[in-house]
Amino acid sequence: MPKSLKTADEIEGMRQACRLASEVLDMLTPHVQPGITTREIDRIAHEYMTQVQQAVPATLGYQPPGYPPYPASLCTSLNEVVCHGIPDDRPLKHGDIVNIDVTVIKDGWHGDNSRMYLVGETSIAARRLCAVTFEAMWKGIVKVRPGVRLGDIGHAIQTHAEHAGFSVVREFCGHGVGRKFHEEPQVLHYGRPGTLEELVPGMTFTIEPMINAGKRDIKEDRRGNRPYDGWTIVTRDRSLSAQWEHTVLVTETGYEVLTLSAGSPTPPAFVTPASVAVPA
Ligand code: MF3
Ligand code: CO
Ligand code: CO
Repeated sequence: MPKSLKTADEIEGMRQACRLASEVLDMLTPHVQPGITTREIDRIAHEYMTQVQQAVPATLGYQPPGYPPYPASLCTSLNEVVCHGIPDDRPLKHGDIVNIDVTVIKDGWHGDNSRMYLVGETSIAARRLCAVTFEAMWKGIVKVRPGVRLGDIGHAIQTHAEHAGFSVVREFCGHGVGRKFHEEPQVLHYGRPGTLEELVPGMTFTIEPMINAGKRDIKEDRRGNRPYDGWTIVTRDRSLSAQWEHTVLVTETGYEVLTLSAGSPTPPAFVTPASVAVPA
């Protein structure tokens, strides 16, 4: 049995935290334009979470074993940055793609989500990578229902990304989320059908595929001969990387995406009510 199945009350707490996390991304959308720095984006989001939402930015000071404390209230992963990019003073430029990853804590519950933002006019290749990664996340989400295994989710994501000619990052994965930011289980974005843990109602976890335009290999960011900041991960071949993230709940009949709000991008056409209601 997985340890932290959520009760009805706990799920309500998760719904609130997750909706706030999504609303931070909504609020940021008009700000993500050429010329703004990622530090300004971080400041705007910090203000909103702490002053408007009365919530806590989970990433600020977050320190898993072996890492320095994370210094910001969100992650901004630009172009070839795979994940955990730290906001800084460089302005966004036309053609950039940037992932913004926000995790809020409300009443002790964590809501974790991220989106890709296109800055000004972007290339067809960049837009395709972002679109395929969004679809890949949803290919995983629509698998979610009791009895399905984590390997089924990973396989669906991997198949979609690789059929498009892209690659799946292996070193980072989705995760259980609740009173803790990162808990069991690990949710791999690749794998074999019918393998790994079986889903049961009450589980809450993220699905957050990192998809590279080139090879899947990654490295710590030591660009410019600066000392490593302890967090930023880039593609080894410097190809573009994209990521989307939702927090989902396993229900009795399927799934509920918890990190939705008025500004959430419309799901792909293959996501129908039937993908929740019809038994496997
Ligand atoms: N939000 C990220 C995730 O999806 C984790 C960021 S940890 C940080 O799991 F410290 F880098 F912010
Ligand atoms: Co996450
Ligand atoms: Co996240």
